[in-house]
Amino acid sequence: FTRIAGSDPVMWHDIFLANREAVLRTLDVFRDDLDALREAVDTGDGHQLLGVFTRARVAREHFSKILARRAYVDAMHNNDLIYLAQPGGSLSGTIRVPGDKSISHRSIMLGSLAEGTTEVEGFLEGEDALATIQAFRDMGVVIEGPQNGRVTVHGVGLHGLKAPPGPIYLGNSGTSMRLLSGLLAAQPFDSTLTGDASLSKRPMNRVAKPLREMGAVIETGPEGRPPMTIRGGQRLTGMHYDMPMASAQVKSCLLLAGLYAAGETSVTEPAPTRDHTERMLRGFGYPVEVEGSTAKVESGHKLSATHIEVPADISSAAFFLVAASFAEGSELVLQHVGINPTRVGVIEILRLMGGDLSLENQREVGGEPVADIRVRSARLKGIDIPEDLVPLAIDEFPVLFVAAACAEGRTVLRGAEELRVKESDRIQVMADGLKALGVKAEPTPDGIVIEGGAFGGGEVWAHGDHRIAMSFSVASLCASGPIRIHDCANVATSFPNFLALCAQTGIRVAVENN
Ligand code: S3P
Repeated sequence: FTRIAGSDPVMWHDIFLANREAVLRTLDVFRDDLDALREAVDTGDGHQLLGVFTRARVAREHFSKILARRAYVDAMHNNDLIYLAQPGGSLSGTIRVPGDKSISHRSIMLGSLAEGTTEVEGFLEGEDALATIQAFRDMGVVIEGPQNGRVTVHGVGLHGLKAPPGPIYLGNSGTSMRLLSGLLAAQPFDSTLTGDASLSKRPMNRVAKPLREMGAVIETGPEGRPPMTIRGGQRLTGMHYDMPMASAQVKSCLLLAGLYAAGETSVTEPAPTRDHTERMLRGFGYPVEVEGSTAKVESGHKLSATHIEVPADISSAAFFLVAASFAEGSELVLQHVGINPTRVGVIEILRLMGGDLSLENQREVGGEPVADIRVRSARLKGIDIPEDLVPLAIDEFPVLFVAAACAEGRTVLRGAEELRVKESDRIQVMADGLKALGVKAEPTPDGIVIEGGAFGGGEVWAHGDHRIAMSFSVASLCASGPIRIHDCANVATSFPNFLALCAQTGIRVAVENN
């Protein structure tokens, strides 16, 4: 403002008149915001004031980061964070890992689209879920927190989102991009979705193609990669879609588009995938029909705000379930873990390998089953992993490969080609790392063959993939020498306090030179 006041009045006169429409739009937004603030002060609306000032503080913090050139780049591009894991050890104690990533994303999305104020507890304060919060803030939703896992979302209703001021940056988060694309395809405004180097390589045609069939107008980069530009103002029509791959992200994307599409939208999956979207839609009072492998919604209903308690993420618990299974003399309890039947593949596979895991204190919290999981060390043996368990353990394979390396005998995985298009090519990257430690690991087009047995330490690369970094961290318990793991910064996307919980339970891994 002082710069404007201090510079040439004729120039500003010209600029304002030459850009009349844009200036008027901006002034109108500014005036509306001031009117709303005035109204809130006048009527003593503390709730509204809290929202305004929360958003202001977040924006201010964000600007400071932009000015210091730290926005978005802290962890995302810091490729030289190295973990050093010391060999041996055992695990003990009771821990609670952070909140479920999939449920955290969805709580923000559906909370934003609901009417009323949604309170979330146990929210995962990792970068991926924070990217989703930022996206909805960019679209005008007032979101308080997260603070100690608590988030308050002031829903704007299904038709209340506003055009974002620029491209929406989603960091490393494929879930954010795929689910948002379905929602944005039905909005009245244009939007562009971008991400970091890893997300920019991931396939988006799996959502763009069916969305186009519903009437969406979407452009992608070459070969269907991000960025995605989604044209607003399209009328979507419901359809039935037979998914070619078992993907909860694709299913959820289409169901979200279906909230706006004329008539019914149904999706049939080739194998069961996580059903958090269906469960949570119901939790918000939106009818969803599920019959066998088909989920169906129709437009015309609304979402009503609710209270969400996010269970601990079984995908984060998995590192400790595996570690305590193969590290001799271990006994560990993981509290309040989500055990949704579409997510428990890791428990079933570990049990097939001889693992000793018991579920205690089983209960239901907000439509999701949870339990405390007690795990004791056991002699693991190699197995042929049943293909029907693949989608139920899709994010846990990196660490299950470590279990296979520590087990006696051969483990064979097939039918898991989806692993090649995750945050990294998880088949290749794990095979390379395991081989570097002296494990016999042979990648195949859709899986891997691993010969279990003794292995040593060495140097491995996580390729910026959080789950690879954490998998090699726990491999150290079984190794005869230290493991040095490169590219670990993205652990913060899903498990910000991973190292602290390792220290607490007995896994000796830390940032090198720290
Ligand atoms: C997720 C679904 C899975 C999973 C991802 C989270 C979700 O992806 O790998 O980490 O929240 O819907 P796909 O459904 O594409 O396999």
